[in-house]
Order: sequence, then structure tokens, then C-alpha cells
Amino acid sequence: MLKLAVLVSGRGSNLQAIIDSIESGVLKGKAKVEVVISNKPDAYALERAKKHNIATAVFEPKKFKDKNTYELEIIKVLKEHKVDLVCLAGYMRIVGPVLLEHYFGKMINIHPSLLPSFPGLDVQKAALDHGVTITGATVHYVDEGCDTGPIIIQSAVPVKEKDTVATLSARILEQEHVIYPQAIRLIAEDKLIIEGRRVVLK
Ligand code: GAR
Repeated sequence: MLKLAVLVSGRGSNLQAIIDSIESGVLKGKAKVEVVISNKPDAYALERAKKHNIATAVFEPKKFKDKNTYELEIIKVLKEHKVDLVCLAGYMRIVGPVLLEHYFGKMINIHPSLLPSFPGLDVQKAALDHGVTITGATVHYVDEGCDTGPIIIQSAVPVKEKDTVATLSARILEQEHVIYPQAIRLIAEDKLIIEGRRVVLK
């Protein structure tokens, strides 16, 4: 049983998708969310965790003297819960070297574009502004860059002529909720290896 930590900053719909797929979907019997960690005390994701009796922790970066100290506190909690895989789910901070050193290859992220197109923030708007006709969602391992790590699964989403940021984001989010649990399942079943930039099936 793969022990997960989910790192969040807000709404937590991807966290919910993970919880739901553990309760009755592709992750049933494969994984367990041990702890949800937020950098924001008012993140709705924390309520979702509590509803499912999942432990929570909140660390506000501004209360620490620097990023390293902040991340060391997170690592303490991850170790306490014997976490195997850290899932970033709408965690709106760049992961620093301390966390990466401990969890490279054991930390994944969901991003609402087809990487390497549109890394960073407000990417659904960026895709619309650029005029792409296809965008999507990506689950990838986290490395030292911003949304640059080896790609595990992607799902393409067509952009429709009448799309707004809201309608496009909602259609991408549906795909996020499908591919994030699928990616976690591949890891739970120990099916993946990272070879340079590529993630290959064993
Ligand atoms: C999701 O669309 C996720 O892909 C995105 O934030 C949203 C969080 O929603 N993450 C990023 O943009 C990270 N760069 P959620 O809190 O409902 O899961």
C-alpha cells in the first residue's frame, strides 16, 4: 500500500479525486493518503481531508526564517507518516532543493497544460491567448525547474471557439481528475522508471 502525502494550497479538487479513487476507483487497495499538508491555513482542501479523517498539517512559509527551514518542517511530517510518494495538487510554491534532495523520484505534480507548453501560472489563459487548439493536463515528476520534470501521463483537451478561461479550465480539470489517480496507480504498482527525461514502463 503506497503511503501518500498530498501538498495543497487551495480548493483541493485533485485531492478529492485521489481520495475518491482510493475509496472506490483505480486506487482502491493500492494507496492511502496519510497526510495533507497546506501552506495556506484557509485552504478548502484541509476541510476535505478532515471529512475523510486524514491527518493535516499547515506550514506558512512566512513564519519560517527561510525556505530551507520551512521545507525541513514538511520533511519531518513526511517522515513521521512514512510517506512513499508526495503528490503536489494545486500546491502553489516552487519546491526547493531541501525537499527535492529527499524526495526526487518520489514527488509528482499535476499541471493544467500539455507541458512543456505553458509552464507556470494562469496557463489556461495563456493557452487561450496564444490561440492553441489543443491543450490539456500533465502529471510529471518534480525536478528543480518550474514544471520541467519527467512526464508520466498527459491528456489532451481541445480548445473550443467559445471557450473562456472558466470553461476551458473546467474541461482540463476533468482530465486532471482522471490522470492523477492513474499516474499514482502506476507508481503504486512499481511500473515506472525514470531514464533521463523519459519515464518508461518497466
Ligand atoms: C489544478 O488545475 C492544478 O493543475 C493547478 O492548480 C489547480 C488546483 O486545483 N496546479 C498548478 O497550476 C500548479 N502549477 P485543485 O486545488 O482543485 O486541485
